[in-house]
Amino acid sequence: MNKNAKWIASPVDTGEAAVILQTSFQTEKKIRKATLSVSAMGLYTAYLNGTKAGKAVLTPGWTCYDRRIQYQSYDVTDLVSNENTVKIELGNGWAVGHIAWREKVFAERTAAIAALELVYADGTKETVVTSPEWDAYTSQILHSDIYDGETVDRTAPVTFLGKAVLAEVKARLIPQVGELITEQERLKPVELIHTPKGETILDFGQNMTGYVEVRLTAPRGSRIVMHVGEVLDKDGNFYNENYRKARNEIIYVCSGEEDVFKPSFSFQGFRYVHLVEFPPIEIDLNYFRGIAVNSELKRTGRFRCGNELINQLYHNIVWGQKCNYLDVPTDCPQRDERLGWTGDAQVFCRTAAINFDVERFFQKWLGDMALEQRPNGGIPEFIPTCRPRSDEFRYAAAWADAACVIPWEIYRAYGNEKLLAKHYPMMQKWVEYIHNAGPEEFLWLGGNHYGDWLAMDHGEDSFVGATSTDLIASAYYAYSTSLLIKAGKVLKKDMSAYEALYANVVKAFRTKYLPNGELVQHSDLFEGGQKNPPNETQTAYALILHFGLCEEKDRQRFADRLAEMIRENGGLMTTGFVGTPCLLHVLSDNGHLDLAYELLLQEKTPSWLYSVTHGATTMWEHWNSLKEDGSFWSTRMNSFNHYAYGAVYDWMFGKMIGIETTEHAPAYREVDIAPHPDRRLGFAEASIDSRNGTVRVHWYYKGDVVYYEIEVPEAVTAHLTLPSGYTETLTGGIYHFAE
Ligand code: BGC
Repeated sequence: MNKNAKWIASPVDTGEAAVILQTSFQTEKKIRKATLSVSAMGLYTAYLNGTKAGKAVLTPGWTCYDRRIQYQSYDVTDLVSNENTVKIELGNGWAVGHIAWREKVFAERTAAIAALELVYADGTKETVVTSPEWDAYTSQILHSDIYDGETVDRTAPVTFLGKAVLAEVKARLIPQVGELITEQERLKPVELIHTPKGETILDFGQNMTGYVEVRLTAPRGSRIVMHVGEVLDKDGNFYNENYRKARNEIIYVCSGEEDVFKPSFSFQGFRYVHLVEFPPIEIDLNYFRGIAVNSELKRTGRFRCGNELINQLYHNIVWGQKCNYLDVPTDCPQRDERLGWTGDAQVFCRTAAINFDVERFFQKWLGDMALEQRPNGGIPEFIPTCRPRSDEFRYAAAWADAACVIPWEIYRAYGNEKLLAKHYPMMQKWVEYIHNAGPEEFLWLGGNHYGDWLAMDHGEDSFVGATSTDLIASAYYAYSTSLLIKAGKVLKKDMSAYEALYANVVKAFRTKYLPNGELVQHSDLFEGGQKNPPNETQTAYALILHFGLCEEKDRQRFADRLAEMIRENGGLMTTGFVGTPCLLHVLSDNGHLDLAYELLLQEKTPSWLYSVTHGATTMWEHWNSLKEDGSFWSTRMNSFNHYAYGAVYDWMFGKMIGIETTEHAPAYREVDIAPHPDRRLGFAEASIDSRNGTVRVHWYYKGDVVYYEIEVPEAVTAHLTLPSGYTETLTGGIYHFAE
């Protein structure tokens, strides 16, 4: 950003209405190149001579605005003429509007900063920068808010408010680090529904994040008022009580000419649109488009198989990711939340990095996480934190461990050693936080945790599952320490002190939770959770096996007991956010492949396919967000677009298909290929376009024989193991096997 550019704001506080800051200038000379750089406290749309600069929306994106704000630079060479107007429209967005159940978290008012750098054909240069010389005007966006929606009135006069004033913004300006947020799919409504209650509803056929564009000509002053929802209720009526306090109301007031409306500074999570008011003209589905708005990520993964329900599940996982990867990995895109919850992000990030190229996306978010880390090493539960720095935060096990898990997973997927080195100090400080959390050095007891969030083994409608939160915290203590050690070794550091710490943590874990080779869960100190956890839970076994916390001699017995517990429970899992991502892995790694498939193919709740057979087009927050009797889970917490359980795809890809990068040669430079076919699927095929080329496996049944087609890129070594135990080393080519 040019040093002469100043942060400026409107002289008048326009509250929830957007504001326009603008300047005009003339130029006679021929232009060689023009670059417009812009940023805002709040959200901005920048125009040169009436044309929007660049394709990104919701700029400048979301960072911890009190520390750093991105700016974007646009090539606007083609837009410059002799008479020029630079216009910046500003809305409240994440910085000033509602976020995290508060308002004006990062600033009291919006502000903008910009520089237009002109290079003329004769080599001379000129720069137009924001200054108190700029003019401020009212906008036709009369209201905008991330949660509450937007009002655009095309009849509203645009009036002069006075000269701009200087604004104080302390954050550092940085060039765009992450991926831009852009408009992607444009979906036409699939149906116009008239509900039993008499409501008029558009169904877009897909739960999505974005907004509705309306293009029509209607009488001047007539209004389109839209409310959005993800599902219809059991009688087929409009429903959005699960949005809690997020109003999600879109109002467009028509000009009388042809209007094209869409929000500039808000987005919604929706599949259904309730037309609460509509102009006195016939409704035509062609007036409407549902525009998906997400971070622009390159698709890298593909999957298909012979079971249509599993294919729909995969679709839901991909859309769950798209919808929640909007600059920050959010929990959900619709209710008064939409926050970068660390736990959700860490359980899903391996899957995320198979489906899409998320290296830059996480590079940005991890940058904010590192800035948000407290001096004591604590990692707040969502990033950006949206809270005053003096606040007490909840440093929760399996959530804050994102500080270790995500840098490692991103390294594993993309092999970027620099990024790992950058975040090594954050990983280390987090492990030290646990180390010092007391009251015992090698266990993490007490604390304020979310436990096995939303597990089904702690009674109806409980948020925290039955697994001891102390056990989860101590298991993650070991896991994060193990990841720190791996990272340190990649970076050629002496890790002997942490290796000793790891050995002590595992020893203490065994002494406390696995005395005499039997699982014992102790009552823990978490007030919101369980006082007397049962001795055994599925999640406890899953974590112990997945993180390698038991002695080798006990491993098979524990896995068998876990399988037995699932069978005793009618072939159903009881696990939540923490246990579920490892469940199928530990079953198939320990001789229970059949049961892993049974769980994957289960249609009764809790299961992945229950939501699919109940019409889901994205992942649900709860296994039973929609209950069997047609009622909904409590409106306190019930999203139909929560990607966390989509983490099952890392098992589908890594075990069912059988492609895993090795960790000593990350980014799929060297891969293990070990497919685990199952007749019930008929066939399965998946691929990843990795940094080292496309790796693909396709297996299919013909009679009793399984055929394999395996594609390995040039310069990649694959260690193949087929179910019979046959092994071979493959490089560059397409190979066929049958057994
Ligand atoms: C979010 C979750 C999150 C959780 C913390 C919820 O409100 O939606 O996905 O991880 O809080 O337990």
